[in-house]
Amino acid sequence: MDFKDRAKQQLRDASESVVGVLFEQAKKLPFVKDRIAAEYDKMMAELRAAAKPYGDEFPSCDALPEQGRSRDEVLAQMRAMSERESSRWEDGFVSGAVYHGDPEHRQFLEQAYAIHSQTNPLHSDLWPSVTKYEAEIVAMTADMLGAKQAGASAEVCGTVSSGGTESILMAMKTYRDRARAEQGNDKPNIVAPTSAHAAFDKASQYFGIELRKIPVGEDFRADVKAMKKAVDRHTICLVGSAPCFPHGVIDPIPELAAVAFARNIGFHTDACLGGFVLPWARELGYPITEFDFRVEGVTSISADTHKYGYAAKGTSVLLYRDKALRKHQWFTLTNWPGGIYFSPTLAGSRAGGISAACWAAMQAIGRQGYLDATQAILQAGKQLREGIAAIPQLKLLGDPLWVISFAAANPDKLDVYRVSDAMSKRRWNLNGLHRPSCVHIAVTLRHTQAGVVERFLADLREAVEEVERTPAGAGGMAPVYGIAATLPARGAVSDILGMYMDALYEV
Ligand SMILES: Cc1ncc(COP(=O)(O)O)c(C=O)c1O
Repeated sequence: MDFKDRAKQQLRDASESVVGVLFEQAKKLPFVKDRIAAEYDKMMAELRAAAKPYGDEFPSCDALPEQGRSRDEVLAQMRAMSERESSRWEDGFVSGAVYHGDPEHRQFLEQAYAIHSQTNPLHSDLWPSVTKYEAEIVAMTADMLGAKQAGASAEVCGTVSSGGTESILMAMKTYRDRARAEQGNDKPNIVAPTSAHAAFDKASQYFGIELRKIPVGEDFRADVKAMKKAVDRHTICLVGSAPCFPHGVIDPIPELAAVAFARNIGFHTDACLGGFVLPWARELGYPITEFDFRVEGVTSISADTHKYGYAAKGTSVLLYRDKALRKHQWFTLTNWPGGIYFSPTLAGSRAGGISAACWAAMQAIGRQGYLDATQAILQAGKQLREGIAAIPQLKLLGDPLWVISFAAANPDKLDVYRVSDAMSKRRWNLNGLHRPSCVHIAVTLRHTQAGVVERFLADLREAVEEVERTPAGAGGMAPVYGIAATLPARGAVSDILGMYMDALYEV
């Protein structure tokens, strides 16, 4: 993004927030309110139908059954729904979401979970096995991410959390509490590129930390100079991604971490997506920007075992350079009538079986398994990149390895969201992104199955041609992103998202 684009973007953000305030005021007027409600109803009808496809086909329960149903009947219903939902991801039509998914691997994880299904790491006295698994998950991840090369003063340590978001929330809380304890900083801020994951916004909202989001450069990477400029005496940490979710590119972590190091503040590498890919990519000879504890200023890293670590959903690792930092994550309560209480992460009770299955996955896959998986994924990524680059109506964004985003070469002539909708008709489930308008596919092991990449490219060519041939209709993702581009997010789109979440919990 050059200076002019950035200025335009800032102007757009400012005007959006003005329009946002006006929108909030205008929707209180009865006439406007009714019109908006009618529009929302139309949109919600479609979103609701998509979120609740089963209707009355399976029994709806808005209260407990009087007598328990037979286990066979319950399992049969669950299998029937699961079977309908599996083939799309099993056959590799989905971006990200399921990262391994081979039947034998799944069965193995399920067995590991079953052995420890009753455990809870909150009770380390009852289940030291789970405590051992979690300590080893952290140690294996730390070893993979440069703990031994981190320098003599480092003592890399960490915790297991429920996912990338919780790891990021915990890291940001830790920096906030350290700054409060050590500097009396009560106006903390985080400096992050706009491409940083939404979890940083969540941390900002939950924990009362200002988030300074700095536009990325033309290559979609963090702008070091601009981020450096945004740092002040209340900054608790800087953030970079390896890689970022939207465009799959790795931020200039060594330069960003140097800024943090020079000011003696934290630097968090969000390697939720890349933590279990980049070390192996580097070993395979890919030129990978340094991103882990080998970089002097990196003080924490999030890396998701439940993504490319190939564990079941529900685990992630958060690492710290030393225990002096990690101690600000701990929660302890010594005057509670319920007893002396402590817990390392957001949750209290947790599913030990999930950690057990994660440990089992890491043990069974091993270094060679991760290397082989990474090689296959990066090969598929290359094939996809080359195939997309050969479609003249599209253009690749940045230079990603396996999380590949593409936009319309000429957005006035082609709506990339309509292309994505046309791909949905062909069973594909891609991620819509905006600012700029684009779509991405995160390559997983599902896409390394024979013929999947070829099918994707053939469908994409067809989808582009179909959109060029046919006028825009109603429905799909395109109108939602259309609204997001023209109205302030905190107004209409936030309202719709809120209503969508309400709908998710309707029976
Ligand atoms: C770079 C990055 N960070 C954080 C997250 C959040 O992870 P989770 O969805 O497990 O909370 C994601 C998820 O895709 C991600 O890609």
